Amino acid sequence: MDQGSPKGIKFSSGEEIPVELHKVRIVQKLHLKPIDDRLNAIKKGGFNTFLLNTADIFLDMLTDSGTNAMSDNQLASMHQADDAYAGSQSFYRMEAAIQEVFGKELVLPVHQGRAAENVISKTFIKAGDVIPMNYHFTTTKAHMEINGGEIAEIFTDEALKIKSHHPFKGNIDIQKLKDLIAKYGRQNVPFIRMEASTNLIGGQPFSIENMREVRKVADEHGIMMVLDASLIGENAWFIKQREAEFATSSIKEILRTMCGICEIVYFSSRKVSSTRGGGICTNDHDLYMKMRDLVPLYEGFLTYGGMSVREIEAMAVGLIETTDETVISQSPGFIDYTVKELDKLGIPVITPAGALGAHVDAMQFLPHVPQKEYPAGALAAALFIVSGCRGMERGTVSSVRLENGEDLLADMELLRLAFPRRVFTLSQTKFLIDRLHWLYKNRELVGGLKFVDEPKVLRFFMGRLDAVSDWPEKLVAKFKADFGDSL
Ligand code: F0G
Repeated sequence: MDQGSPKGIKFSSGEEIPVELHKVRIVQKLHLKPIDDRLNAIKKGGFNTFLLNTADIFLDMLTDSGTNAMSDNQLASMHQADDAYAGSQSFYRMEAAIQEVFGKELVLPVHQGRAAENVISKTFIKAGDVIPMNYHFTTTKAHMEINGGEIAEIFTDEALKIKSHHPFKGNIDIQKLKDLIAKYGRQNVPFIRMEASTNLIGGQPFSIENMREVRKVADEHGIMMVLDASLIGENAWFIKQREAEFATSSIKEILRTMCGICEIVYFSSRKVSSTRGGGICTNDHDLYMKMRDLVPLYEGFLTYGGMSVREIEAMAVGLIETTDETVISQSPGFIDYTVKELDKLGIPVITPAGALGAHVDAMQFLPHVPQKEYPAGALAAALFIVSGCRGMERGTVSSVRLENGEDLLADMELLRLAFPRRVFTLSQTKFLIDRLHWLYKNRELVGGLKFVDEPKVLRFFMGRLDAVSDWPEKLVAKFKADFGDSL
């Protein structure tokens, strides 16, 4: 594998394979249904993979959110949960884990990542503010805008390149940051947000060097930094692989360094600790007090924040496990394997491989589908039809409609194929690669989509679409001609 890639185990053939460093002891039966059933299912789901029933899905690669496999120790910890409305021991164990792993003393529990975004946005954003960031996440943008703010993405020129060797495509462009503060004025910039393993641009990390440069600019203007740590484990892993200063550091040291640079750290536990839930932490008492009262109002009392105490126990263990390299490198290892195989087959995919999932470029995959017919959505639907694998559209369907009635076309049209930690095997991964390869060879059969029911906010979740022609039927006919009865 390339320098900077997660290390596989070397086989005698010379190949490096991401051998699983865990054993599977609890399993869940999967269903690989016939292609006609899959076609019916996607039609019933309005060509939106969010609206599928998992009974119809073979490999669920929609997200890693709340779907990472938990460890034996996490499951065991759930049995010692302390049910108490206030003062639960489970909370104090979770608080101690956050203090140890992130180095932040003051902890606010929330029911998931977007709830942290609600609390932070309500507390710190006023109408007319602008929030600089490496890139937005859908829920982040929605919460900031609802509170009157505007996001400003100040990524580097490398960030949106599909094919790249840049190790840190999640970096902030320092000059753009300086220009932005000069333009809007310090009083309109409540904080700078950095998102670890930047989700919507392909799970791409930033470097600590970049964080330190951002910190310098922030200090010059007295602006605070907020870290979205939902995918911090993987970002730390990439820093260890790709940033020379940290090559011999432990993951714990890297996590502490990253969190130490920012005043506020928040996270979705659905990702970082392989559980459900979320949290906000800081060492600044004033900031803590400003946010604190919103937690009982929106989430629940300060010692559960809307979470089940069982999840809180599993979070405590999961956070400590985030410092274990075999845990945080498993998903990047499989993603790296998949990206390299797809790349070899000529399938357009974001490089270098990042965190969370493999990201296929639908614009190059389906150059004949105009962006206003949602190529990434069409590709997600087509892949489901031919494989039962569910990915997620991350393109214009996930964007918004402007007041003039036109879509705000997304910067990228991506099909995201998530690899939740320790969930899939290598043969399942090979099946995915094979079906995607077949689809690529038959890509001219895939057509576009149109909205038939479009919600005003976060339309990608519940929106319903339809095919612009009978392309799904034609795709099914070709599949049957090539595979016969095989699934
Ligand atoms: N921040 C980032 C970087 C995320 O990836 C997510 C969720 C959130 C915040 C919101 O957290 O879902 O717990 O409320 N990402 C999921 C995904 C939904 O599929 O990528 P949440």
